[in-house]
Amino acid sequence: MKLLLILFFISFTLRADDFINKTDYAKLLYSNPRGIGCDKCHAKNGKGDIIASYVQKGKQKMLSAPAINNISKARFFAALNNPKSVMPRYSLTMEEFESLYEYVNSQK
Ligand code: HEC
Repeated sequence: MKLLLILFFISFTLRADDFINKTDYAKLLYSNPRGIGCDKCHAKNGKGDIIASYVQKGKQKMLSAPAINNISKARFFAALNNPKSVMPRYSLTMEEFESLYEYVNSQK
């Protein structure tokens, strides 16, 4: 009986270690969405960043990723499903998409 109780507590503790909350999950997904992390281009907090600057035909040009923590859900969704976007194709599930949207909007 004692052994059973001990085993019960061990399994309970192990399960507690596996626990990951919604915010931590979304944060991980943002930096590692089965592809290049969103943070690499849109910065850690989704406020946008300069990706590269270069000279083209003698003119200084800049490629930047816009802020994504201040747009509607519809626009967010459309951007991630736009085949003409510069961004990599992610094939996110609806749940992943919702998590990312909530995450960047909590980073204002
Ligand atoms: C290689 C750099 C790069 C990566 C990685 C990247 N983006 Fe982007 N993103 C861009 C650029 C550049 C634009 C603007 C031009 C375009 O859409 O092609 C953009 C546009 C967007 C927009 C539209 C913004 C608007 O104002 O309409 C959203 C939303 C977005 N990205 C979300 C994400 C999310 C979420 C991820 C990760 C799953 C991600 N991006 C990864 C470069 C990137």
